[in-house]
Amino acid sequence: MSLRCDQTPQWPQLQAAFSADGSRLDLREAFASDAQRFGHFSQHAPEVFADLSKNLWDAATETLLLDMARACGLTQHRDAMFGGQPINSTEGRAVLHTLLRRPRGLALPGDGPDIAQKLDQVHTTLDAVLAYADTVRADGAITDVVNIGIGGSDLGPHMAVLALDQFRAPGKRLHFVSNVDGHELHTTLRTLKPESTLFLIASKTFTTAETMTNARSALAWFAAQGGQDVGRHFAALTTNVDAAQALGITTTFGFWDWVGGRYSLWSAIGLPIAIAIGSEGFRDLLAGAHAMDEHFRTAPLAQNLPVRLGLLDIWYRNFHGFTSRCIAPYHAALRRLPAYLQQLEMESNGKRVGLDGQPLPYATSPVLWGEPGTNGQHAFFQMLHQGTDVLPLELIAVRQPTHPLEGHHNKLLANALAQAQALMVGKEGEDGHRHFPGNRPSTFLLLDALTPASLGALIALQEHRVFVSGSLWGINSFDQWGVELGKVLAKDLEARLESGDVAGLDGSTAGLLGLLRSAA
Ligand code: F6P
Repeated sequence: MSLRCDQTPQWPQLQAAFSADGSRLDLREAFASDAQRFGHFSQHAPEVFADLSKNLWDAATETLLLDMARACGLTQHRDAMFGGQPINSTEGRAVLHTLLRRPRGLALPGDGPDIAQKLDQVHTTLDAVLAYADTVRADGAITDVVNIGIGGSDLGPHMAVLALDQFRAPGKRLHFVSNVDGHELHTTLRTLKPESTLFLIASKTFTTAETMTNARSALAWFAAQGGQDVGRHFAALTTNVDAAQALGITTTFGFWDWVGGRYSLWSAIGLPIAIAIGSEGFRDLLAGAHAMDEHFRTAPLAQNLPVRLGLLDIWYRNFHGFTSRCIAPYHAALRRLPAYLQQLEMESNGKRVGLDGQPLPYATSPVLWGEPGTNGQHAFFQMLHQGTDVLPLELIAVRQPTHPLEGHHNKLLANALAQAQALMVGKEGEDGHRHFPGNRPSTFLLLDALTPASLGALIALQEHRVFVSGSLWGINSFDQWGVELGKVLAKDLEARLESGDVAGLDGSTAGLLGLLRSAA
């Protein structure tokens, strides 16, 4: 039987451990008294090395957390996900993004009855998507590819295309338009010609207001500019092929309702990535993610990186009470990673009720935020070092640069090391202003090189770590009902902006609506 984390015997033991020693743990003393600390809290996983040793925990705490994970049935829940059981309970859906990167024909113990058939569909579609991507790459007449999508239909592909810019085909520019704010589409269209542009309309549901509005405007622009052949210049990436065809888009690539939007970059939604880096590169991305899937699925919990990270997240959120985690990629190409991780973690685990729909008595998702280093150092790192809140930092560094400029990379890596070191060791100051208290936690993730495979593994690592904390919290990490109310109200207010009708509105909304109308 599986338990919610606060119902396990380990929960009160962890509370007691935190009150007794955990809250007083001093990282400097911990390293001084244990020469093995770095080794003990290091973890090799496919493509990713993690140093977890500069975190405010000890071996006894981690053992309790691991026992709690066992009591919560984490492994059973994980296997249920891989096997295709409908663990997205509020929507009655399986959660099978891992299938999108599973090699053709690979059967796993615990597979549900229809997994083999789904895997076949995955590979048939993948072959078609990648053949199309390679055709577009070879088509010299297409110079610009515009992805129109939002949320999971934008953040993952956009982040990955930037991250893998070194692998991008020369002669292809990729643009991402997500916002309903017409400035974004308008600014992009100004640089384009219909005969050399391919629009990808990316939407799982093909109902999202922003994407539908932008898609219609792009179609109208194409026609107005004398564009010929929508079939060649527009493609839809969606589970709702009928809706795409109803809009006049005949070139379509499908996927399935068991792929969550924020987990969809491995599906047809990844087409812009495949156009950028080619079919081989995309297969490498999938292979890197699959290697991490296998690590998560088979490594003992105590040497399982997504598990260790997810448990650390719970320790920080529920026992230390830390409210956020700062992400600092020390690689400029990873600049959209914080935004991507925000959706992954906060849309997955930003939930206030358990699986039974009842309010939970403990905190769930932290706030995620961040910017690449070293830029963040000259902005908000002041607060990390000397602010009143302790906020765990996650640094992501890459050992090998891909540029030839001398001196830069060692400076970058030295800064990453220095920040983690400074946060931990601190410094006695001659006065309060110059004093660094130290003992501030950080996690250091290291890739050997930023490649399709290592990026795939890094993303899958983050997906699974979010699964681990969500699983122990006993929430459904795979729905997102919280985004619905605003969508409904925006529809109502759009009509009221036209009509001026403020009947039934609260005073503030009515007042603002009046101001917006008078400014129009
Ligand atoms: O509004 C939230 C959301 O549903 C996300 O979960 C999703 O990634 C995004 O909107 C876009 O949805 P779609 O791909 O269906 O357009």
